[in-house]
Amino acid sequence: MEIEKTISSRRAVRAFRPEPVEENTIRSLIGAAIEAPSAMNEQPWSFVVVRSQTLLDRISQNCKEYMTHCLPAGLLPPHLRTSLADPGFHIFYHAPVLIVICSRVDGPWATIDCTLAAENLMLAARSCGLGTCWIGFAQNWLGTEAGKQALKLPAAWLPVAPIIVGHPVEFPPAVARKPPEITWIDQ
Ligand SMILES: Cc1cc2nc3c(=O)[nH]c(=O)nc-3n(C[C@H](O)[C@H](O)[C@H](O)COP(=O)(O)O)c2cc1C
Repeated sequence: MEIEKTISSRRAVRAFRPEPVEENTIRSLIGAAIEAPSAMNEQPWSFVVVRSQTLLDRISQNCKEYMTHCLPAGLLPPHLRTSLADPGFHIFYHAPVLIVICSRVDGPWATIDCTLAAENLMLAARSCGLGTCWIGFAQNWLGTEAGKQALKLPAAWLPVAPIIVGHPVEFPPAVARKPPEITWIDQ
């Protein structure tokens, strides 16, 4: 798929068919992720691939409870609080795979580098017909000691980008974009 088409047709996918994603495909998505630029070529990323549905269910539950009870009141808009209170709401939408891009080093560039890797991964997935969605709902709990243990991460590492991957039921229609604010400075 051409790059422009890949970029413009990538969507946050929240409904997946049950079939698994092949291991080779996951490896090729990670291969695309690590082609991202990184500050001083540090390549600070590490990838955790979770395919255990039991673990994904447990993480979803823990994240919901954490956000409901531990985040400051008012941080989440009411409609998200309503979702969190719904026992049927699964933060990973029952996707077959969660790839968590983690930073192995401290500092702002490492987080940015992991985010660039995440976009590469999502675009590579789109170009081979797979759906993805970054799940920010997972980030707070995954960053706790218990969350890092669930991902088998060393305590000093940071989960940056939790991205679900799967065969989409469909690619949803585009979400409207605001016109870009552009400041031209020519002289
Ligand atoms: C940092 C980040 C966190 C996000 N967290 C969630 C999330 O927790 N749950 C969810 O369903 N979508 C999440 N999204 C997806 C956005 O809602 C989605 O990208 C946005 O609405 C634009 O839609 P599009 O990706 O289809 O263009 C997240 C996206 C980003 C970049």
